[in-house]
Amino acid sequence: MTFDIAKVVRPKILNLEPYRCARDDFQEGILLDANENPYGPTIQEYNVDSLLHRYPDPHQLEFKKLLSDYRNKTSIFKDQNLKPLDADNLCLGVGSDESIDALIRACCVPAKEKILIAPATYGMYTICSQVNDVEYVTVPLLLSEEDKFQIDEEKILETLQNDPSIKLVFITSPGNPTGTFIDVNRIEKILSQWQTGLVVVDEAYIDFVEGSDKGSLAPLATKYENIAVLQTLSKSFGLAGIRLGVTYTSKAMSRVLNSMKAPYNISCSTAEVALKAVQPKNLKLMEENAATVKKEKLRVLKELTSSPYVSQLGGLDANFILLNINNGDNALTKKLYERLAVESAVITRYRGNEPGCAGGLRITIGTKQENDVLIKEFRKHLALIMA
Ligand SMILES: Cc1ncc(COP(=O)(O)O)c(C=O)c1O
Repeated sequence: MTFDIAKVVRPKILNLEPYRCARDDFQEGILLDANENPYGPTIQEYNVDSLLHRYPDPHQLEFKKLLSDYRNKTSIFKDQNLKPLDADNLCLGVGSDESIDALIRACCVPAKEKILIAPATYGMYTICSQVNDVEYVTVPLLLSEEDKFQIDEEKILETLQNDPSIKLVFITSPGNPTGTFIDVNRIEKILSQWQTGLVVVDEAYIDFVEGSDKGSLAPLATKYENIAVLQTLSKSFGLAGIRLGVTYTSKAMSRVLNSMKAPYNISCSTAEVALKAVQPKNLKLMEENAATVKKEKLRVLKELTSSPYVSQLGGLDANFILLNINNGDNALTKKLYERLAVESAVITRYRGNEPGCAGGLRITIGTKQENDVLIKEFRKHLALIMA
């Protein structure tokens, strides 16, 4: 069977003619086409060059080109001579959260079709599915020592074969809260054996992975028609405040996503900052910062797991660590989490209720100074609780 986009995307969306907005054809000149305010924003400090009184460019081709060039350059699939990604493979959203919602709306008929998720995973997939009246099916991550927090691709394929109403499979790689990069072979197995839906690989933390066999699957968007890779500028780029998410997919699917999005979903301010972030010198800075996070991550892990009550639970492929406190002791983990927050103003994330994460405390890697405070306060509260 081959992938047929007409069977994956909802008919009403597939045939959607993109809304043609004022800025589609002309972006410069005497702009009397979009009912804007020619006097500029009513802000005293406004700099007339920043054009905030104009609607943003709906396409952002320069940003898309620079980012896809970067993903081509750093591809782990160079030996496969894949066709390079270009701007037409990309669609931009208001953070990955909007991209997740868009994919569900594009593919799943409400009250009829479903998504599949692999918990423990990111919470927005189920929120978006519920908001859209789309059911979710779960195939938990593997928990054995050797396959810890990998997807169970055999079980996923079996579930997909038994339920043709599933249209999207969400895989988080590296996982949240697991911090584990998912083996490429496992994902490619699903991509090559399942053609009646899309495999969505959420790579929010991809720039923190280490090792030559680990890296973004975005370049596979020119190899498989049934993949959509999500990335965000919120993590490695340090730009959570601008809200920019990127979907890499086939040109046909990208056209669908671009047709259904609100024309001006990416603001001028977001676009301006994002374009700066993908200039070569800033991409280098992003890589340097990610390298610092990786170094600090190992230091924090070593310091915290020196206690006999603390062990490493998750992988080390993201900008956080997932610890197991006192052998899966949720009550104690919660107490530690609360004391850290209330008494020391060190805010971590209790994840003990997630499947396979008993005793789980997720800690984002901060600056060196923040990490020093964390280590000191963590030790103090743990000692008091265990005394
Ligand atoms: C796995 C995963 N996907 C997506 C997001 C959301 O990213 P954004 O800020 O781009 O909406 C997060 C945020 O924590 C995440 O952990």
